[in-house]
Amino acid sequence: MQADHALTQAAAPAAQSAPVILRTIELTKQYGARLAVKHLNLEIKHGEIVGFLGPNGAGKTTTIRMILGLIAPTGGRVEIFGRDLASERDFLLPHVGALVEMPALYQHLTGCENLRAMGAVLGGVSRQRIEEVLELVGLQARQRDRVRTYSLGMKQRLGLAIALLNDPDLLILDEPANGLDPAGIVEMRDLLQRLANEGKTVFLSSHFLGEVQQICSRVIFLNAGQLVANKTVAELTRGQGEYVVELEQSQEALDLLKKQPWGAQARLDDDGRLLTSAPGDSGRELYAFLAQAGFPPESLAPATQNLEEVFFSLINNHEGDKAQ
Ligand SMILES: Nc1ncnc2c1ncn2[C@@H]1O[C@H](COP(=O)(O)OP(=O)(O)OP(=O)(O)O)[C@@H](O)[C@H]1O
Ligand SMILES: [Mg+2]
Repeated sequence: MQADHALTQAAAPAAQSAPVILRTIELTKQYGARLAVKHLNLEIKHGEIVGFLGPNGAGKTTTIRMILGLIAPTGGRVEIFGRDLASERDFLLPHVGALVEMPALYQHLTGCENLRAMGAVLGGVSRQRIEEVLELVGLQARQRDRVRTYSLGMKQRLGLAIALLNDPDLLILDEPANGLDPAGIVEMRDLLQRLANEGKTVFLSSHFLGEVQQICSRVIFLNAGQLVANKTVAELTRGQGEYVVELEQSQEALDLLKKQPWGAQARLDDDGRLLTSAPGDSGRELYAFLAQAGFPPESLAPATQNLEEVFFSLINNHEGDKAQ
């Protein structure tokens, strides 16, 4: 079965040829007149950490709920390990770990008791596994306290511990860093990285773009229920072939660049650095041109965008598309 295949596959960065672990096909959810998710086609491959981004109300949680069989799609379907979720739900879901918004916890029980209760539901969860997940999420010291006394971040960690209990091949996490302190966010990042290195596949929604940029191999942007981008982080953050140049007389150099056929779009950024295309798309030629013109660059590097800039430009472009 493919689930076993996923379990035994070597932990390697997801290659083009890696098996598809999660697929949505024309997945759609309509609430009354509102289309929350529209004909969504996604593929997540083995060993990937994929970030699921989009503004509030974009349809991320709705998609994740459908992927977990918590709500029924109004159109399309979900495949996990190549099998149809609707018809093989009971077989598939034990291989999936999930954390969706606020985890449902027994407030009057301790963290450890919550894990035991959940372990009993899942079946086959040893005491040792409970200890392991408590350690993985950094909750050992508080495991004997009632959940009622936990902070938001501790509840989130416990939710993640529950998601990990059955050592799932696929983790689906809706805003896992929600409520975590900066140290907790770094721990979460390390934990997800480790899990991916062990061969797990991770699909997570998040509003922490810096985190996503650091841990995700690929990012899927959703806006108004529709896919607007599905690219690797490297592709998204690569600039448009421009270079960023630091030099002393940036205004004079800018005037000169704007007169060149390749430099018409040259401009200064907020920090007074030059942003420009290069002759022959070559950084080396740009450097030589500036140096010969009497403006030797102090530094010159390909311009990049961070994920936040990409996010805003994608969302704004999409708004523009809709207005037309
Ligand atoms: N049970 C529901 N009934 C009616 N509309 C709903 C329901 N759940 C979600 N919606 C609507 O579906 C759309 C998508 O919501 P969803 O919760 O999936 O967004 P999201 O991307 O997870 O947003 P956020 O970043 O705020 O978590 C929103 O317009 C929301 O109002
Ligand atoms: Mg949500």
